[in-house]
Amino acid sequence: MKEVLVIGGAGYIGSHTVKELLKKNYKVIILDNLSKGYKASIDAIDPEIPFIEGDLGDTTLLKDIFSKYNIDTVMHFAALIEVGASVFNPHIYYDNNVSKVLRLLDTMRECKVNNFVFSSTAATFGNPQADKISESHSQLPINPYGSSKLIVEWILRDYAHAFPEFNYCVLRYFNACGADFEGKIGPSYDPAALLITVTLQAAAGKRPSIKIFGTDYNTPDGTGIRDYIHVVDLAQAHIAGMERMLKEKISDSYNLGTGQGNSVKEVIAMCRKITGIDFKVEETDRREGDPALLIADPTKAHTLLNWKTQYSLEDMVKTSWNWEQHKTY
Ligand SMILES: NC(=O)c1ccc[n+]([C@@H]2O[C@H](COP(=O)([O-])OP(=O)(O)OC[C@H]3O[C@@H](n4cnc5c(N)ncnc54)[C@H](O)[C@@H]3O)[C@@H](O)[C@H]2O)c1
Repeated sequence: MKEVLVIGGAGYIGSHTVKELLKKNYKVIILDNLSKGYKASIDAIDPEIPFIEGDLGDTTLLKDIFSKYNIDTVMHFAALIEVGASVFNPHIYYDNNVSKVLRLLDTMRECKVNNFVFSSTAATFGNPQADKISESHSQLPINPYGSSKLIVEWILRDYAHAFPEFNYCVLRYFNACGADFEGKIGPSYDPAALLITVTLQAAAGKRPSIKIFGTDYNTPDGTGIRDYIHVVDLAQAHIAGMERMLKEKISDSYNLGTGQGNSVKEVIAMCRKITGIDFKVEETDRREGDPALLIADPTKAHTLLNWKTQYSLEDMVKTSWNWEQHKTY
């Protein structure tokens, strides 16, 4: 059985991917420094999963892991992800999200581990010039977080070119949200970052209101439109991407979304419908740097990965609401 090292597996998207990997009988080892993730998320899935608390920049530790386990693929989720913080602390973002990844890749080469799945982001596209963003869209990030992800994409491209035994799969997520259908794991960012979570916290009375940033965009209801994708759909795309990479020994990149957008007002309306609670909504000015529309063109992933999203906005809100009410971490 193939062994997969999931770095950042105690985080939101990593933990959901661990759960899907186990369902498909992959053997999983997790490395996470718990700077943002939760050991409780791993325990909720299966406390027997080998878990190593440590930093991805620790090459001695990485070599130990690669010698102890028969790792075939590394899935890399372990980034710092706050756009605003990246603007004020670019050095921390470039160190964690770029320098440490470079060290990881070189340690992988040294230890003959040649397959890499990388979490990238729609933020690499910056302010998009198309209604739906395909893989051929220009990548011009507008903040250090997006740049740090794009730099790694370039490093991967150059490594695959120079080292033919090395394969990568880059997955660019649009707006991940939702939670495990069994309610065992879910998002627990501090502070809460996802629109659905923040809205549901308003519904639960944990915050006084929800703010809409900008109601004068050139969209049907004036609010920003995003491509929301259920985290379980995303998790399954990792397995599809890894399996294509391993089977065809191919390096490639894919945009992952539903291909459909929902406006902020539509998300809020869905949260009202699911919770049955009429919470307070405040309309305020646009935030700098927020584009009107950000929607993936997922055709390439449909065609080459034989993967499609299954879950709706209603599923995203229902699973998030269940998690918000019963969360354990
Ligand atoms: N959440 C989204 O909507 C979204 C969208 C696009 C891309 N992504 C990408 O997906 C990945 C996972 O994001 P997430 O939302 O699950 O974030 P998260 O913060 O929940 O998970 C990241 C995990 O990595 C760990 N980590 C960070 N730096 C580490 C280090 N140096 N060594 C070891 N562990 C470390 C953290 O403790 C955490 O458990 C990131 O690479 C992010 O850039 C996320």
